Amino acid sequence: MGTFLSITLILLALTSAANSCLPSDRAALMAFKAALHEPYLGIFNSWAGPDCCHNWYGVSCDPMTKRVADINLRGESEDPIFEKAHRTGFMTGSISPAICRLNRLSSLTIADWKGISGIIPPCIANLPFLRILDLIGNNITGEMPTDIGRLSRLTVLNVADNRLTGTIPRSITNLSSLMHLDLRSNQISGTLPTNFGKLRMLSRALLSRNRLTGSIPFSISYIYRLADLDLSFNRLSGPIPEGLGKMAVLATLNLDGNRISGKLPTTLLNSAISILNLSRNAIDGNIPDVFGPRSYFTAIDLSYNLLRGPIPKSITAATYIGHLDLSHNHLCGPIPVGSPFDHLEASSFVFNDCLCGKPLRPC
Ligand SMILES: *[C@@H]1O[C@H](CO)[C@@H](O)[C@H](O)[C@H]1NC(C)=O
Ligand SMILES: *[C@@H]1O[C@H](CO)[C@@H](O)[C@H](O)[C@H]1NC(C)=O
Ligand SMILES: *[C@@H]1O[C@H](CO)[C@@H](O)[C@H](O)[C@H]1NC(C)=O
Repeated sequence: MGTFLSITLILLALTSAANSCLPSDRAALMAFKAALHEPYLGIFNSWAGPDCCHNWYGVSCDPMTKRVADINLRGESEDPIFEKAHRTGFMTGSISPAICRLNRLSSLTIADWKGISGIIPPCIANLPFLRILDLIGNNITGEMPTDIGRLSRLTVLNVADNRLTGTIPRSITNLSSLMHLDLRSNQISGTLPTNFGKLRMLSRALLSRNRLTGSIPFSISYIYRLADLDLSFNRLSGPIPEGLGKMAVLATLNLDGNRISGKLPTTLLNSAISILNLSRNAIDGNIPDVFGPRSYFTAIDLSYNLLRGPIPKSITAATYIGHLDLSHNHLCGPIPVGSPFDHLEASSFVFNDCLCGKPLRPC
């Protein structure tokens, strides 16, 4: 019995020694912690003692290499630590470049702390195993690291809701594993790389509410898996590439609030797209008369453009149209009768040149 107990104790001691973190990883984490200030929850109180692989809040290690693999610090979470404090997280300070010494890091999530400022340390581009970089909802400034394209394993790049400036690094198109790109609500300017379509694994590209200029690169339509493209509220100009309507799985296309001009591509109305928002642009010409059984729209918003001519008759052949907004254009003529027009309100049609019939005044 005594022998059994001591063997167990020896085994336990061995396992915990074997799992304890590398002193250099621990030192990097301590330097990372020292650059941050989290006054309300005390999440860093657990970052003490020699073994950073056990019970350090938000830190986990790879069981094989014993190296720090994940840092997961979310300011909005269901964790009991937040419930006890009856508040969401708030943190100030900056992301220390010491983080780059954790060269086995696979995911770095420092999200929704609102007050973290400073820049994204450029050395982040040297973390060869990084798969997830999620810094949403802070107060980060400066430019995205120029060399970000070196992160060949990166699948998620989310820096939304910060105050980033500068342009999209050209190297970004080298991120051949990238599936989810979220740059929403920053102050990023310049044009989209013309070879954006190199991002073949991309399924969501969310870049709304920035200051992007230039036209939409037609290469985007080569991204076979792209399901969600949001470029709304930028300063994009030029025409909508035809190819966007020929994409296999593109379901949401939001281009509203730009300076897009030219005609409405016929392809868009007869595509896999189910949410189409082109509101607040300068699209002109007629609405193409090409709706058909493939047209299935949860929402289609063409309001605040320069569209002319009648509402096409074929629209009644669409399989489904939930929400339709054609207001604030220069449309003219009778509103077609039948589905989907039987459930639409006048607000879908107001402020045109001479539309008539239900739900507006009789012709
Ligand atoms: C973000 O930084 C700006 C400028 O330093 C500051 O005025 C603002 O209060 C910060 N926001 C938060 C949420 O800390
Ligand atoms: C993309 O990767 C290739 C091959 O590694 C490299 O030659 C090229 O300079 C990279 N492009 C950019 C813009 O960093
Ligand atoms: C389309 O975008 C505009 C903003 O430009 C927004 O007000 C509107 O609600 C959106 N339409 C739909 C159907 O979501």
